[in-house]
Amino acid sequence: MSKTAILELDGNKYEFPVIVGTENEVAIDIDKLRSATGAITIDPGYKNSGSCKSEITFLDGEEGILRYRGYSIEQLAGNANFLEVSYLVIFGELPTAKQLEQFETDIRKYTLINEEMKNIIDGFPKNAHPMGVLSCLTSALTAFNPKSVNVENEKEMYEAVCKTMAKFLVIATWTYRKSMGYPLNYYDNTKGYVENFMRLMFELPTGPYAANPTIVAALDKLFILHADHEQNCSTSTVRMVGSSHAGLFASISAGVSALWGPLHGGANQAVLEMLEEIQKNGGDADKYLEKAKDKNDPFRLMGFGHRVYKNFDPRAKIIKKAADEVLATLGVNDPILNIAKKLEESALVDEYFVSRKLYPNVDFYSGIIYRALGIPTDMFTVLFAIGRLPGWIAQWKEMRVNKEPIGRPRQVYTGPALREFVPFEKR
Ligand code: SDX
Repeated sequence: MSKTAILELDGNKYEFPVIVGTENEVAIDIDKLRSATGAITIDPGYKNSGSCKSEITFLDGEEGILRYRGYSIEQLAGNANFLEVSYLVIFGELPTAKQLEQFETDIRKYTLINEEMKNIIDGFPKNAHPMGVLSCLTSALTAFNPKSVNVENEKEMYEAVCKTMAKFLVIATWTYRKSMGYPLNYYDNTKGYVENFMRLMFELPTGPYAANPTIVAALDKLFILHADHEQNCSTSTVRMVGSSHAGLFASISAGVSALWGPLHGGANQAVLEMLEEIQKNGGDADKYLEKAKDKNDPFRLMGFGHRVYKNFDPRAKIIKKAADEVLATLGVNDPILNIAKKLEESALVDEYFVSRKLYPNVDFYSGIIYRALGIPTDMFTVLFAIGRLPGWIAQWKEMRVNKEPIGRPRQVYTGPALREFVPFEKR
């Protein structure tokens, strides 16, 4: 691979360095482009632009490969637990048994939420979407934890990681409890992280609650599959907000808002609503496939397509297999799953989808499992956020520790040229 790239503009030639990543990804470093040429690049949606170098996640969209810190998603999902993978994603190495035990112990130091946070959640209407409540509560954590993180101080950074992992899980479940009119639960420091998620969500003061181990294991795997995904929309948002040196809670809060969109993390909820609509209208998957192909119809096949994956999303493969296993173990026969499989089968042989390399993504099957686990549809994206939290933390930490510059893209102005002010009487 050549070490430089040559750009010719207005008869002049300019040379720019080329960098090559661990997996031979090639990038042209245009740091000096504007000062050298006076020109900038433009790339709506940043489809061809790298925002940073990162050591956290590698994905190959053509081959359908996903690795966290060099470990394949298949091996991690098959052998590790969510806190273990969170530690890996955030700190860069798989923890020893002692380090993992200490990590869980240190998270437990911060699982209590300031009681005054309840005044904030009380202000929401019951039908408020959980993602909007979560984004607000996450930002509100700053009010009760105002000390900014000195990212240069490893101990302070570690404590901020543990605090965020602890408090985010609890407030995420409070969004559901609020919508149900249930009392808000407290984390039980004698139980595991994912088991606590189920308790925080479903335990009622009227009787004992025991989380189903099959459900806890399935959720643990789902959280692993969502833990990070390089510079996706919400992670890029967390980096962008954090690049102004806004705090970690404020940056994560912005990431929650970005994830909420139906083109991003909100797709898991949109997939279930789409499948339910297909079921309600007679289950004719092919009719909806035609709608998705019709340029005059805004309908898209939710859970299909991806900015980077032009092959199967490796997470979708794992989730599809888990869906079969979990529903069988729980004895759930959900016709929605059959509609999803029919939709997938038809799309994978349809020229429109094949020519555009549109495959099922992580959101296509996850909602089916969540529904089988008793998770309400409008909480699906909250679960995505819980899974993605370690990735957001890891990427924010990497950006700050690497002293990345504040994010401030350029633009090409296409509005009116200079013109004189026009007084009212002449308008
Ligand atoms: C996530 O980036 C990440 O890593 C995200 C994520 C993560 O872990 O963080 O993986 C999680 O967000 C997964 C994606 C979830 N979103 C959806 O399932 C929503 C449905 N998908 C699409 O909206 C779309 O595929 C996107 C948004 C995911 C990707 O859009 P792109 O890369 O901008 O692609 P595009 O819109 O330019 O589409 C290219 C072509 C277009 O047709 P033409 O103009 O070439 O004729 O494919 C078509 C699109 O119309 N197309 C679809 C489609 N997705 C793309 N047509 C019908 N149904 C779809 N779902």
